[in-house]
Amino acid sequence: MSVLRHSTAHRSLTLLALGTLAAAPVVALPSTAWAQTAPERVLLSPTDDLATSQHVTWRTEGLDEGSHLEVIPVRGAYATTSVSAEHTGGTAGHQYYRATLTDLEPDTEYRYRVVPGEGAAGRWQSFTTADSEAVPFDFLYFGDIQNDITRGAAPVVRSALEASPDAELAVHAGDLIDHANNDSQWGEWYDAFGARTTGSINHVAAPGNHEYASNALSGHWALQFPGAGNGPQEGVDLAETVYSTDYQGVRFINLSSNYRDADVDDVDAWLELQNDWLVDTLEDNPNEWTVVTFHHPLFSNSPGRDNAPLREAWLDTLEEYDVDLVLQGHDHSYSRGNLVENRTEDPDAHTGPVYVVAVTGPKMYQATDQNWTSNGAEARVQVTDTQTFQSVSVDGSALEYVSTTADGAVVDAFTIDKDEDGKLVTDQY
Ligand SMILES: [Fe+2]
Ligand SMILES: [Fe+2]
Repeated sequence: MSVLRHSTAHRSLTLLALGTLAAAPVVALPSTAWAQTAPERVLLSPTDDLATSQHVTWRTEGLDEGSHLEVIPVRGAYATTSVSAEHTGGTAGHQYYRATLTDLEPDTEYRYRVVPGEGAAGRWQSFTTADSEAVPFDFLYFGDIQNDITRGAAPVVRSALEASPDAELAVHAGDLIDHANNDSQWGEWYDAFGARTTGSINHVAAPGNHEYASNALSGHWALQFPGAGNGPQEGVDLAETVYSTDYQGVRFINLSSNYRDADVDDVDAWLELQNDWLVDTLEDNPNEWTVVTFHHPLFSNSPGRDNAPLREAWLDTLEEYDVDLVLQGHDHSYSRGNLVENRTEDPDAHTGPVYVVAVTGPKMYQATDQNWTSNGAEARVQVTDTQTFQSVSVDGSALEYVSTTADGAVVDAFTIDKDEDGKLVTDQY
């Protein structure tokens, strides 16, 4: 923590922390409730190394020159550290800030709060840095939340958080909201997770077509989801949307499938730029597991839909590097499958990547496996009119995946096991 910038303006908090003993909470929770000007929409987003660094974003009503974070490890006799915030931009009525914590200790719980230059501080929240080793953990995967969020999607989100209370990441496969720049819909999205979740676990979000309006990425996107900064950088919107982050033995990779909605002149070149970066990222991957997330599926569920340019640009790479999970959305139904050529003698098992399409919100489309079968793939599970969340547990060389409704009904389940002979994906439903 010593490398973090330490502001002399906050010595009083340093004194508060000094002398505290290990295993004791070091800072009392503030007794004041949220003030009218309190920072809001506090969100954790991944850096390229969540064992030692962390992005935190938030917003205030007015421009606030002195906004910063106060950060302190929950255990140990450490001083409070002040991390300055960068003003990243504004939307109508609000200004957004980002602080990037660096030189954190792995597998360590930190308490933090946003302190505006003027007005009341935000409440204390906490997060835990990733372990630097491949320690078992759980994460959640959400398809399109998008529609009727408060009444229709939030109950599924709440069920997910109750079913996987220890989930350390939430992966979003795009269409988080319906209208890219609708501030109240973004508000519903934050409320669905609740401040304790948006500010305590990392949200790995890939944009969908509904995060675009008039061929422009939502003005909220980069303010809320700054990205890890290790993507291709060049090309339309790729700096904010394409990146990777490693978490306890898993490399999470986000791609942008929005070739129809971003302001792209040459679709093939844009997708190939991402593919070149993807190859580099997969080639240089020390992790046992790889999860790739983007919005438009390589094998569509919806009748008449076909994302051929994506399939032509990325499928061979995903297969060649044997990516474990390909997490997608867009079709407002559920399916999970694989290439037919990866079938094994056991009809309940296959090798190679798993392709999933899921939907969290209530908007529903019909589904067919026609686009799967006409492109060398099979949908092992395909379900319509079903809102789900997905819980994934990673433990050494084993992975467990369960897709569940808000009522707890299991829609799909499989395991992936790896050993010296290779990998086997086995149906568990
Ligand atoms: Fe959608
Ligand atoms: Fe979509």
